[in-house]
Amino acid sequence: MQGLIILNQLVLNGIDINPGVNDQGVVKMKVVVGLTGASGAVYGYRLVERLYGTKVELLIIVSDVALAILKDEVGIGKEKLSKCGRVYGNSEMMAPTASGSFQFDAMVVAPCSMKTLACIANGISSTLIARTAEVALKEKRKLVLVTRETPLSLVDIRNMEKAAEAGAVILPACPGFYHKPKTLEELVDHVIGKVFDQLGIKHNLFKRWEGSSR
Ligand SMILES: Cc1cc2nc3c(=O)[nH]c(=O)nc-3n(C[C@H](O)[C@H](O)[C@H](O)COP(=O)(O)O)c2cc1C
Repeated sequence: MQGLIILNQLVLNGIDINPGVNDQGVVKMKVVVGLTGASGAVYGYRLVERLYGTKVELLIIVSDVALAILKDEVGIGKEKLSKCGRVYGNSEMMAPTASGSFQFDAMVVAPCSMKTLACIANGISSTLIARTAEVALKEKRKLVLVTRETPLSLVDIRNMEKAAEAGAVILPACPGFYHKPKTLEELVDHVIGKVFDQLGIKHNLFKRWEGSSR
């Protein structure tokens, strides 16, 4: 028991070793990650990889365009995702997450396209990702949207406002630079760290700002 408690406090490769399990090794956090067809597929893949490392139970939903972009930008396919958790297609409306009776703790959509944002903001639950986000909102569970588009149209901005009013956290894929990133990985990890902050998972994926040295 003592050993397990100590293990719970360890940090390895920038992430808590097991915030997703309790002292008995039982999973205590279920997270749904939706990947949609926006550029920045690496954000979704990295998030899934990092969450897998924490032993959080993962359910992954991936749209067709997201899969194509994942292949094009990152060079990986569905099989890599399925190493980290259960993977569902965006049209699999019979999946567990489509029902509010299925208990998950949080959902992150990364990257989140403006089309999926529009669906979520306007209650159009025609895909599994949009429906699961609707479930998160109605059940008052954490919903984080890692939006990716630039520039933004007024429609996008209004949809962000609507989603935020409904309870979603809008967390644009917009890394900071105060931690002086030297690699693409460090840049991406800044955004992933911000997502971890929202999920309440301890990490050291980036060095926090502690004021400027005089
Ligand atoms: C290569 C590529 C890059 C794209 N990048 C973006 C993007 O960064 N943001 C966005 O909102 N849509 C982007 N799109 C458009 C979306 O893929 C499109 O709106 C699609 O319908 C989104 O569907 P989904 O949200 O169900 O995955 C991109 C499409 C392609 C083919």
